[in-house]
Amino acid sequence: MAVQINPSILSADFARLAEEAKAVEGADWLHVDVMDNHFVPNLTLGVPVVESLARATDTPLDCHLMIEAPDRWAPQYVEAGAGSVTFHAEAAAAPVRLAREIRAKGARASMALKPATPIEPYEDLLPELDMLLIMTVEPGFGGQAFLDIMLPKIRRTRELIRKHGLEMWLQVDGGVSASTIERCAEAGADVFVAGSAVYGAGDPAEAVRALRERARS
Ligand code: DX5
Ligand code: ZN
Repeated sequence: MAVQINPSILSADFARLAEEAKAVEGADWLHVDVMDNHFVPNLTLGVPVVESLARATDTPLDCHLMIEAPDRWAPQYVEAGAGSVTFHAEAAAAPVRLAREIRAKGARASMALKPATPIEPYEDLLPELDMLLIMTVEPGFGGQAFLDIMLPKIRRTRELIRKHGLEMWLQVDGGVSASTIERCAEAGADVFVAGSAVYGAGDPAEAVRALRERARS
């Protein structure tokens, strides 16, 4: 499995987003956390900022929508330039229809699960998705401690992906750092979001390289 490292700009300086995006240009994707203060108790950015970011960097954008009514808003993030759009299973009214719409508009379709949401009810939906995101913290804030209790869910999801012979990616987000990334990789994750572990480091590009090495080992 190819390892991908996606720095989360939630931990970047929002007044210098273009520079912060350039600081991690060796990364695979730039993870953009969209929060609406309803689905999660925090507010970040929306479509206009994603449009500007897409123009400011060559790194493709991985938009993680922590918002209510993603069925209504997610397609706009594809139009804004996102290469991958993740909606939450807990918020989507019609996840299959939404995933198909995201794909039809030309982006990768992805679905996220909060820590208390099991994967099993979604087994039959997996072929409709390009990526499944397992949250390893409660969504809403950067810098929280990694939830080890999510490792069995990562393992079970990897098993389901294998069982169905799918090519889809398995992303983890929350508390991923040099000390937790190996456990995630060993459990079967292949796409790693890291906010504070990248932007909290003195040299963000070096932090991305170090995380990649650890995930491969
Ligand atoms: C949290 C966000 C994450 C966040 C991760 O709700 O979805 O992407 O930026 O930050 P760290 O890596 O610091 O836990
Ligand atoms: Zn995220």
